[in-house]
Amino acid sequence: MGAVKEPRALQIFNTVGSSVNENPTPRRFTATAPLTGRLRVPGDKSISHRSVMLGAMAVGETRVTGLLEGEDVMATAAAMRAMGAHVEKTGAEWRIHGVGVGGLLQPDSALEMGNSGTSTRLLIGLIASHAITANFTGDASLSKRPMGRVIDPLSAMGATFTTSPGGTLPLMMTGAEPAVPISYQLPVASAQVKSAIMLAGLNTLGITTVIEPVPTRDHSERMLRGFGAQVDVGEEAGERVIRVHGQAELTPQRIEVPGDPSSAAFFMVAASLIEGSDLLIENVGLNPTRAGLVEVLREMGANIEETNAREVGGEPVADLRVRHAELRGIDVDPAVAPSMIDEFPVLFVAAALANGRTVTRGLDELRVKESDRLSAMATALTAAGARVEETADGLIIDGSGGEPLRGTIGAPVITHLDHRIAMSMAIAGLVTKEGVEIDDTRPIATSFPAFEALLDEAMT
Ligand code: S3P
Repeated sequence: MGAVKEPRALQIFNTVGSSVNENPTPRRFTATAPLTGRLRVPGDKSISHRSVMLGAMAVGETRVTGLLEGEDVMATAAAMRAMGAHVEKTGAEWRIHGVGVGGLLQPDSALEMGNSGTSTRLLIGLIASHAITANFTGDASLSKRPMGRVIDPLSAMGATFTTSPGGTLPLMMTGAEPAVPISYQLPVASAQVKSAIMLAGLNTLGITTVIEPVPTRDHSERMLRGFGAQVDVGEEAGERVIRVHGQAELTPQRIEVPGDPSSAAFFMVAASLIEGSDLLIENVGLNPTRAGLVEVLREMGANIEETNAREVGGEPVADLRVRHAELRGIDVDPAVAPSMIDEFPVLFVAAALANGRTVTRGLDELRVKESDRLSAMATALTAAGARVEETADGLIIDGSGGEPLRGTIGAPVITHLDHRIAMSMAIAGLVTKEGVEIDDTRPIATSFPAFEALLDEAMT
């Protein structure tokens, strides 16, 4: 390992509300130096959202450390405040005074969700079993994303919805009290849909059941149990069956949020690709429902060592030492997709530099993320000189065998208000001759405000 640097403290940004800066902020990312030393990624986004929501549904004070202070989680915090909870930061700790299950208040104005699909879908679920009416609005990206996937099951529970054409935001909903418990088999592998139904089940008399043909991230199950709800998880006929016992009483908790593997992913790929890199990424959550990228990168030949394995906030965590390695193309098993669904954009960057062909399939869900990530990444990587073929449900990428890509010349890469496209193409820029220009770095603040600062520092 290169000269040992001290762990870098995360910078705290003003992340309340949408971007402070009104104008697009382009930047060219270019090859500079290997990534060395150590860094700590910010708190897990999924766990941060749930910490605020569940804290707001408990009676008493929940204390959270390591909360991700990105715009998405701040949108959740603002919404919970608008419905009666106190959510404040004191020193390094967030304190949440909850209203209790069934205690959400009617918000005075629209709930502004910004770019955050997780806030929107999970909050729609929470509100579905409360007798309140709420309006949801979001940015241009969120306003294109499908909400029918939560509206269908929650309508069956009794909630009513008026959406924009196409079942999108802006939408207005009225929750049902009492709501009716349902048994629902997920038609798409989606932790957001599963969680929305589970949260609606909290204030519903009886047992609400969700059946998952394919397991997705299980933070809601783990955390609801941690807060004292009765959640039974079993396997029946090869499917995961989750039963939430309704009218739960949640007890306040102390939560330490582990580092976000989806944020660590950018550094894992960068250190793997850039010769001479030897980077320690500390405190990375490695819940098996989230850690697919580590396995896939290893299958491609990456050198990722797990040290200091431990448990943080009820989740497995380790430090990851990542050293440069030559990567080879592989066929990515579609069964791993749910455990790395947010990491495909940066995996495509790794594939573009690998030796040989990488084939990905079964990724239809990527078309309905913050952007159509298959199309956005195919276009952006092609513009940077990679050889990419877009199929209906994946990308086929012929890697450069470690040769730097050309980079973008002329027009910048369009990130479509998608933080993960911006960060993935920033990493791509580090392995090009000319660099890659991103049209706008502001969306990065939705999930990882300190990304650029940490990247710049890891390369010095
Ligand atoms: C999330 C679930 C995933 C993921 C998103 C966060 C969650 O979405 O892409 O970033 O916290 O439950 P889907 O449920 O739509 O797959």
